Amino acid sequence: MSDDFTFGESWSSIYREFTGIRGKIAEADETVAFLESYVSNGSALELGIGDGRVAVPLSERGVKVDGIDNSDSMLKLLAERTNMVNAWKGDIANFSSEQRYGVIYCVYNTFRYLLTRESQIACLRSASAALADDGALVMEMNIPALDGFISRQKTSTLCLDSENTILSADIHDPLNQTLTTTVLWFSGTSVKSLPHRARYVYHQELDTMAECAGLELAERWADWARGEFNESSRRHVSVYRRAGQSRSSFKKPTSVA
Ligand SMILES: C[S@@+](CC[C@H](N)C(=O)[O-])C[C@H]1O[C@@H](n2cnc3c(N)ncnc32)[C@H](O)[C@@H]1O
Repeated sequence: MSDDFTFGESWSSIYREFTGIRGKIAEADETVAFLESYVSNGSALELGIGDGRVAVPLSERGVKVDGIDNSDSMLKLLAERTNMVNAWKGDIANFSSEQRYGVIYCVYNTFRYLLTRESQIACLRSASAALADDGALVMEMNIPALDGFISRQKTSTLCLDSENTILSADIHDPLNQTLTTTVLWFSGTSVKSLPHRARYVYHQELDTMAECAGLELAERWADWARGEFNESSRRHVSVYRRAGQSRSSFKKPTSVA
């Protein structure tokens, strides 16, 4: 995978179909309902907005949504869907905005596409600076699934039905906390090869990085329906506020005996 690889340019042509198969389009209404409940001043900013899977339905609920993405192809897909969302090309690791947003959100593991600890902290600092004083930063990320690797390699099945076989082949670099992945999608007689690379972080590392950016954890859930986050959770939805602004009675989970 070349160093100038960008996720969006490789994935845009199949993004809508892929997210449909993975249940992410069906889930978007629940995501939007969650995000809408934090919009304090009517405005939201999505980091890595993609084709507008979340931003478009959120804007249809009357929220003024802006977005950033570093992929021309993804921004084109978004522009084809709506003119209600103001999106621009940029790097979520380093952005600034004169506007202060009620909600800034980075969902569907997009934060992981920042491949270094430094760029991830820089992203959180940029987001912190763009938040309204009473704003919320919402992050959705999977818990790293590092079981089953042999010699730092693993192949797993993402989808197996009568029409599609989608496999994920991962190489783990534990020193840099990265997974270099090739998704192989077999459908009829065609096969597509879709690369990506991601830097995983556990939720507690994310909390520490957020603290470096002047944010503190206000809530953590297992899903968009506010299920309890516990040792069985496979992802987390975390809400951060500026330090000192936390308005929730949220209690951090304690470990099980
Ligand atoms: C997994 S997709 C998620 C898209 C959308 N947020 C969603 O939930 O469907 C990740 C998106 O982030 C964008 N992206 C990845 N790295 C980025 C970066 N450093 N700066 C801006 N956008 C980035 C990709 O182009 C892609 O559109």
